[in-house]
Amino acid sequence: MPANKEIKKLEDLPGVGPKTAQKLRDAGIYTIEDLAMSSVNELVEKAGLGEETARKLIEIAEEIVGHGFKSAYEYLEERKNVEKITTGSKALDELLGGGVETQALIEAFGEFGSGKTQIGHQLAVNVQLPKEKGGLFTGNPVKVVYVDTEGTFRPERIKQMAEAVELNPEEVLKNIFYIKAFNSDHQINIVKKIPKLINEGNNIRLIVIDSITAHFRAEYVGRGTLAERQQKLNQHLRDLLKIATVYNLAVYVTNQVMAKPDTFGGFDIVQAVGGHVLAHAITYRIFLRKGKEKTRIARLIDAPHLPEREVVFRITDEGVRDV
Ligand code: GTP
Ligand code: MG
Repeated sequence: MPANKEIKKLEDLPGVGPKTAQKLRDAGIYTIEDLAMSSVNELVEKAGLGEETARKLIEIAEEIVGHGFKSAYEYLEERKNVEKITTGSKALDELLGGGVETQALIEAFGEFGSGKTQIGHQLAVNVQLPKEKGGLFTGNPVKVVYVDTEGTFRPERIKQMAEAVELNPEEVLKNIFYIKAFNSDHQINIVKKIPKLINEGNNIRLIVIDSITAHFRAEYVGRGTLAERQQKLNQHLRDLLKIATVYNLAVYVTNQVMAKPDTFGGFDIVQAVGGHVLAHAITYRIFLRKGKEKTRIARLIDAPHLPEREVVFRITDEGVRDV
């Protein structure tokens, strides 16, 4: 069962019989909270419900979950469920306000070799650490979904990083659901199947998508298709954010950068692929670049409650570490 969230059954809702409940589950909606965050369109198109029924169900679910107005105090209480995963570097953790948060999306963007994939590997290991060591393990094996679009996942590297933090490498590897996404539609569908995995009893606390934009960028070329790409990417991010919230898990995505032709003084005027859409849905964005003597520099951008600043870390044989 997902941690920290009491999952109420769909069948508990007035007017929902086993048949409707099954339709909802087939559409990837497992909980009342899921339902409350769904759109009428989603229920009509994916679960095959009538529009009126859909509207009503969402309304009831919203009432139970309480998605109307809430006091700032209630919001603060909710935020107490947020947990943090260490990146392996204290400096990087501090930059993020204590580590990579659950119920949030974190995007790392940066140039080739800046460490985006290495951080993804490190988080997949670290989330399995006991709580006192910066992970989310409390007795039930912690699992990870690792979506690879570029073929750069390396189990050998996971093994190396696991050994460095004294975890059993085989166990760590067994707890990672690895999947290669072949195109953007496949990638979208993989994410939609994650609630099913969780509801089958897998304690998934981290999703890694490396990279979130590569397929979209390759498939949608030219101006004519840009709007469609943004719309699909936007929905994909909404799906991810919803899963992160409902199941109290962390989502880490990587993003390539395009150097703008009007680069200013040779420095980092870069534009993250995905543009406004991605910037809007992402909760934390870190910009990575290479520093002196094999160091890496991370800058936090657009974080809701943290100052914009930079820290330095490095990538060693053990993994992501402080300088
Ligand atoms: P792209 O996916 O190409 O855009 O790059 P990225 O940002 O994902 O870079 P990645 O995370 O793959 O970083 C690669 C860098 O990590 C290498 O250039 C090395 O500096 C470092 N690295 C990777 N594996 C090891 C290792 O086993 N030992 C050490 N010391 N460093 C490593
Ligand atoms: Mg990479």
